Parts: sequence; structure tokens; C-alpha cells
Amino acid sequence: MPLFDVNIDATCGNARALTFETAHGTVHTPMFMPVGTHATVKGVTTPQLRELNSQVVLANTYHLYMRPGVDIIEKAGGVQKFMNYDGPMLTDSGGFQLFSLDHMMKTDPDGVTFHARDYDGSKHRWTPESNMDIQQRIGADIVMQLDQCIGYPSPKEAVAASTKLSWEWAERCCAAHTREDQALFAIVQGGMHLDLRLENVKRLIEIDAASRAAGHKGFQGYGIGGYSVGEPHDVMFETLGDVCQALPDNRPRYLMGVGNPTTLVRAVREGVDMFDCVLPTRTARMGTAFSHTGRMNMRNAKYKEDFTPLDPECSCPTCTHYTRAYLRHLVKQGEMLGGILLSIHNLHFLIDLMGKAREAVLAGEYETFYQDWMNSPAANDY
Ligand code: GUN
Ligand code: ZN
Repeated sequence: MPLFDVNIDATCGNARALTFETAHGTVHTPMFMPVGTHATVKGVTTPQLRELNSQVVLANTYHLYMRPGVDIIEKAGGVQKFMNYDGPMLTDSGGFQLFSLDHMMKTDPDGVTFHARDYDGSKHRWTPESNMDIQQRIGADIVMQLDQCIGYPSPKEAVAASTKLSWEWAERCCAAHTREDQALFAIVQGGMHLDLRLENVKRLIEIDAASRAAGHKGFQGYGIGGYSVGEPHDVMFETLGDVCQALPDNRPRYLMGVGNPTTLVRAVREGVDMFDCVLPTRTARMGTAFSHTGRMNMRNAKYKEDFTPLDPECSCPTCTHYTRAYLRHLVKQGEMLGGILLSIHNLHFLIDLMGKAREAVLAGEYETFYQDWMNSPAANDY
């Protein structure tokens, strides 16, 4: 199959199971993508990631650009070689980091100027074109357009202006992106306003069509950004389904930065294919485990003499080899192995959950899968 051509293996209601090729291997959806911001999924080695059936792993353009710098990654032969991950990778453009961290940044129609306050305070300027150049040099298999993600709540006029800027940048990213072995995903913004989101989708589809008509490669997929920015939990679901249905069937849809298990199960039902989030590894480092019965705080005294596996239903290396009492001891003691073992388990949990979601779509039973999850004790816990 040509790179990034999408096969729709099955649909079930609006849920989908897709397959597509990247230069670093075949991808099956729905899928959860572990986050390796600094070219490392914190505490987990790349062979361990593969044992967990990881597919695409994320890295972040802003952070890699600041440290170690694009030159070093390029000299290493690209980010996959640099971190010794033999599967596909994706870089987020870094736009989101600039907007969400306090970077004293200034956006103008042409680009964004920022101070890297979380590094050395140095001043930098990115345009859609320079951001594409950086991401092509970092060399992930999938790159994201430079976008603008506006906070919640914001006046509708401000959301509209920022959304327009985002699709203008999408068009410039599309024109600047030339690597044939790399996919470019556009990003849908529009805040919580359905009309703005649908207009953004329409513009992106027009940009894609014009690019292809001119013999260029257009967009190979669509990110759905601008959610999980402080709105009440259910607000996203007021527009997510309609956004998905407006997007082309034959392109992957990637809901950015959303990772709690129940949200994944619900979003797949609306037609989302790909997810990423720091939640499984970040909560693991704080001593929390996902489980089929809900979140478990491993500091809790009730685990002190509990010599059973963390989650008896889980087949991950942590649950196979270690007890709750031992994990509690590690977490209480601040031992780094505690965060590592819980990270492995939590990543397995989400990767496996999406693998099961795929099986359910292929079997034509997603609605049953969804109902079973929503009726399980874990559903209310997130
Ligand atoms: N990660 C989570 N949300 C977003 C978004 O809106 N844009 C980008 N680039 N990354 C994200
Ligand atoms: Zn486990």
C-alpha cells in the first residue's frame, strides 16, 4: 500500500478501524500513542514500548528544538534513530506548548515570536514555513501543522480570529511541506463553537483539494485540537461527533491531548481514530494506576499487605511480576522503579483498551463494548 493511504478495515456506527502505512511500519487504529516529549517516554525504554505493542510514539518540536537542538537530531539520522525507536513517530508542531506555557509570546499574521522561558529565556521566531523545516529535519513519520490553540473561555470573535489564523497557517504549512516519506496533518480548531469548527474543516478540505489539484500532497490526516483547555468535561462531546462526521472518511482523525480511558471509549464512538496524552505516565509518576475497577492510588494503606497483582485482569509485565504491596512500598519510598512500573502498566492499559476497541469494531460489536465500559466501575472514575 502507498505510504499513508488509508484502508477502512471496518466501521461500526461511527467507530472505525483503519490501517495505514508509514515508513517505519503499519499502523492500526483506534490507537493510543505514548508521549515522549523530549524524545523519551519517561522511564520506559524503547524495547519495552514495543513489548507493550506501542505503534506511533510522540515527540515535541518545541522541546527538541530547544534541547538538544535540531542539528543533533538530524545528525543522528532523525528522531527515531536518535532515541532508537524502530516504530513510527509523530511530532506535534510545538504551537500548543507556546500557547499553554507562559512564553511572553507575540503572534502576528506571519508567525510567532517567543521567549523560551522554560529553557534559557532566549528569543525565537517561528513561521509556518520554518516550523515545517524544523519538523522535516527532526524527521518523524507524521508532523502537525503549526496552529493556534486558544484558551477557554474566550470571546467568540477571538476564537474566530485565532481559528482563521490557524487555517491560513495550515495552507502555508501544506505549501512548505515537501518530504514524501512524511505525513502532514492539519489541525481543526474553533473552540467550543460548532459553526467555527465546521467552517475550519471546510477550509482545510479546500486547501487539501487545491494542493492535490496542483500535484502536491495535501493533508494525510486531521488533528482535532483546542479541546481539554479548561472547559467542563462533557462540553467537548457537544461538537466532537459533528466535527468527525464533517472530516473525510479516508483520513485518520487524531484527537490531541486527550487520554482518560472513558473519554477514549466515548470518542472512538464519535469517529476518532488516534489519541495521545501524558496522563498515563504523569499519573504513574504520582503513584496512580489505571485499572478495570477505576484509578488506584498506590499510596493507600489498604495495599500495605495486599500481595495480589496490581490489576488481576491485566497481562502487562508489572501485573505479571509485582504485587500491590511491593508497588505501594516503592511509591511510598519515592523509588524511581515505582513510577517506571506504574508507567508500563498505565501505557499497557490504554494501548490495550484501544486494541480491544479495534477488535470490537472489526467484530461489529462496538456498541456492546461501549455499553460494557460505561456500565463498569471504571467509567465513573475519570
Ligand atoms: N495538543 C493538545 N491540543 C493541541 C492543539 O490544539 N494543538 C496542538 N498543536 N497540539 C495540541
Ligand atoms: Zn498491568
